[in-house]
Amino acid sequence: MCGIIGYIGKKEIVPLLITGLKRMEYRGYDSAGLTVLNNDSKVLTRKKKGRVADLEQLINSEKIHSNIGIAHTRWATHGFPNDVNAHPHNDSQEKISIVHNGIIENYAVIKKKLLSEGFEFRSETDTEVLCLLIERFYLKVNDLELAVRLALNEVKGTFGLAIVSTYDPDKIIAARRGSPLILGVGDNEYFVASDASALIEHTKNVVYLDDDEMAILSPDGYITKTISNVQTNNEVKTLEFDLEQIEKGGFEHFMLKEIYEQTQTITDGFRGRLLIDEGNVKLGGLRTVKEDFRNAKRIIISACGTSYNAALVGEYLIEQLAQIPVEVEYASEFRYRSPVLFDDDIVIVISQSGETADTLAAVQEAKQRGIKVIGLVNVVGSSIARQTDAGIYVHAGPEIGVASTKAFTSQLTILTLLALYLGRMRNISSEEGLKIARELSAIPEKIKQILNIAPEIEKIAKTYSYSRNYLYLGRGFNYPVALEGALKLKEISYIHAEGYPAAEMKHGPIALIDENMPVVFIAPKDEIYEKIVSNIEEVKARKGKVIVVTNIGNNELDRLADHIIKIPETLPILTPILSVVPLQLMAYYTAKELNRDIDKPRNLAKSVTVE
Ligand code: AGP
Ligand code: GLU
Repeated sequence: MCGIIGYIGKKEIVPLLITGLKRMEYRGYDSAGLTVLNNDSKVLTRKKKGRVADLEQLINSEKIHSNIGIAHTRWATHGFPNDVNAHPHNDSQEKISIVHNGIIENYAVIKKKLLSEGFEFRSETDTEVLCLLIERFYLKVNDLELAVRLALNEVKGTFGLAIVSTYDPDKIIAARRGSPLILGVGDNEYFVASDASALIEHTKNVVYLDDDEMAILSPDGYITKTISNVQTNNEVKTLEFDLEQIEKGGFEHFMLKEIYEQTQTITDGFRGRLLIDEGNVKLGGLRTVKEDFRNAKRIIISACGTSYNAALVGEYLIEQLAQIPVEVEYASEFRYRSPVLFDDDIVIVISQSGETADTLAAVQEAKQRGIKVIGLVNVVGSSIARQTDAGIYVHAGPEIGVASTKAFTSQLTILTLLALYLGRMRNISSEEGLKIARELSAIPEKIKQILNIAPEIEKIAKTYSYSRNYLYLGRGFNYPVALEGALKLKEISYIHAEGYPAAEMKHGPIALIDENMPVVFIAPKDEIYEKIVSNIEEVKARKGKVIVVTNIGNNELDRLADHIIKIPETLPILTPILSVVPLQLMAYYTAKELNRDIDKPRNLAKSVTVE
């Protein structure tokens, strides 16, 4: 997780590093720190527990001038989030400074060795071990770059890192293995960052580093090479988004902005792909794997968190429209349980960030076993997007709020396209295709209608914000939506919530129901509607508080429900894209009422780049 930025050029560095850190703060917010070079003898490091704003305050009164430096916002893995454990970490003589994203897995062994050689440690982090290891090599070889390479050869685990040193004051050395790192190429100025959002206001020209690659940045240019010292030639790519897309644009929180953007992002997902008049789909990204899909006997979808919930909807969609058996698996489990895979399986991974370590590991596992891997990824150029055999970009635009919203509905849009594409390839008629295509294209307008009733949803959220627990229940296509509604509430309000298939309630969760338990039912008028009405009755009979999401025009539940949220009707297969929106708003307004840090909920980070 964590955000790294480094700069070398002519500009005053402190404001540049601080703004860069703020733009990446969603990656980790336990502490923030920076190192600049402004004298020959020692690096100058300032770091502080807490947010980037705390670091800013710390250095406010100092006049620090420099035009080379590195900075970091931390998501702690090893050691408490405090000032000492904050990055950057320096060597014993304050001449080498490092920021690191990832985990040095063999840090304990190396630390023991270094301790026995007389090195002293200030922090509890794995990162400091790497820093002192570099120092140890430097003292032997007198060459910073070589020392870094020698140290990196000894460490196991993952890193995205940037180093500055008074030993070699005109350079930033960056390297990656398993954690994202991008170079920004400006006019006589160069950047390194873990995230394009830190670069976009300076340059759109970027170079993605690959695993086991390093870069040496100087005021005159940059070179890339492997950690084993073979020069590489990475293409300069152009970023496809604008600064405005990563700013709040008048909304109080990124999360709210992103919920409202869904009227547009869904269209961005199907534009140019959905052939509305033909009831079919064109997916250029799948050209090379079309035959694999035609012959596939089984699809396995793997993902984490919200993307996993989208995968569950994908299972229902693909099985219904294309009749291909689908299994959905948490990426973290897939990787470590030696799954049984057949040659004609296809693995699909879903990831907003494209950097989730568990999902990346699932990609690698499947590829190693010779299986085709398809990525449904939002962040263009991310590691998963680059390592999969083929893919479909989700096109939701940058998502900054840690709780995923617009990426989820865009993932559902893409999964619908994929299911329709496979369905038309295999068994569904053009008539059926036309119906689905028309309905999908009408979804953005229907989301607008839901956003219009946000004030009603806010009232319901406020009424139950005192609750310690929440239940979310749905059936069929809306079971994954129940999971997603519960996940959103947990993440940002810290209220315990569980999602269940509604019929499962009687097998256990019903014991929790009393007059203090709000239960959210997702009950659109579909073929299993009558069954879910019975489940609502069961909750009412036990005095639970019932909040129902159903369709406009269905007044039957008015007498049963304590609160009712009415959403437009659509095809059952498309309902999740609509029914999740009121649940996103419920979570948002609950968290707001409780004064939570909505865009940066405690303990979380936007992209989870550690396993
Ligand atoms: C969503 O609200 C979460 N913050 C989290 O569960 C997220 O969906 C998960 O970490 C997967 O991320 P990815 O889509 O970037 O791979
Ligand atoms: N493992 C390092 C630490 O705990 C880096 C964490 C990060 O990626 O922010 O400090």
